[in-house]
Amino acid sequence: MPTPLNWHGAAGARKDHARQAPPHHAPQGQAPGAPAGRMWASTSDMERPPLSLDAVPSTLVIPLAARAAGGSFFPSLACSDADAARLLRSLGVDVDAYLADRPTVLNVLWRTRHIQRAGQAFFARHPKAWGINLGCGLSNYFQWLDNGQNHWVDADLPEVIALRLALDPPCSRRLRSVALDLTHADWWQALQLPPEAMEHPLFVVCEGVLMYLQPAQAQQVLADFASHAPAGSRLLIDTLHQCAVGRARWHSSVGRTGAEFRWGIQHPDELCSSHPRLRLAHLHSVSECYGWWGRTSDALWRPWLGAPLYGLAELAV
Ligand SMILES: C[S@@+](CC[C@H](N)C(=O)[O-])C[C@H]1O[C@@H](n2cnc3c(N)ncnc32)[C@H](O)[C@@H]1O
Repeated sequence: MPTPLNWHGAAGARKDHARQAPPHHAPQGQAPGAPAGRMWASTSDMERPPLSLDAVPSTLVIPLAARAAGGSFFPSLACSDADAARLLRSLGVDVDAYLADRPTVLNVLWRTRHIQRAGQAFFARHPKAWGINLGCGLSNYFQWLDNGQNHWVDADLPEVIALRLALDPPCSRRLRSVALDLTHADWWQALQLPPEAMEHPLFVVCEGVLMYLQPAQAQQVLADFASHAPAGSRLLIDTLHQCAVGRARWHSSVGRTGAEFRWGIQHPDELCSSHPRLRLAHLHSVSECYGWWGRTSDALWRPWLGAPLYGLAELAV
């Protein structure tokens, strides 16, 4: 496929990481009209097989770029990510086009800020609890949420976890990486949480992920969380409006990757309909970033739209 990302080789990566990549997985949420196959990363070392990511996993570069450099455009939302810029340098990816998509940069920094704050408040209440980042990409929330007692699990598809381990092996015994597929029935078991993890509520993040799954798959992830997580647990997800489904090609950043939006909502009730234990604790709209104009437009359009165009939901059990 044409290479929307300009890869120059994983200079900082372990030499053998491409060989360690697991077998190819069927692309999830790839646009029907998108160029088939994988996003290739040609390496400068011709002896190595090229590093490649399918369309949906390749979207991990979008939030990585925003966290690495987006703070210069939106200083009040700068997230001080200590790792993102280094990882981008290691990947050798040209992200100028992603950074030029300012609304998406803003969306990522906005949701990151909300998740950081929710996590800090959660671990203040439950200092020994476990956090889980489903579809973590190359993000690193433990840099902000490590309190010296809690544990954190970063989970993603095998090819992403292989890349993650090659670029950035976990450096704490309280931090682990897990390869899983959220569309598989046993994804919760694949987390292999020890009994002590279930003695406290869980703090679970799943950002920039569920919109690429089929609606039934996204709802199943919510239902699985609800049926397994201890009382008091939280799940933070970002939400797209239903009107974006099938229209990723018009999105300045996602359109470059060949991924497609599959799941969106028309009403907040849809977030809790998959399981009786689920409760919507908060639903933020990104319109809050746009001051009085954003809040006014949101208030005017909400009766017709029913849900935010882009939101961040905190679900509780
Ligand atoms: C837009 S990136 C978001 C990455 C990360 N959450 C962040 O905000 O930086 C989407 C991520 O979802 C992951 N993903 C997509 N489908 C998945 C699935 N079925 N199981 C696990 N992870 C998945 C991709 O591999 C990719 O890392």
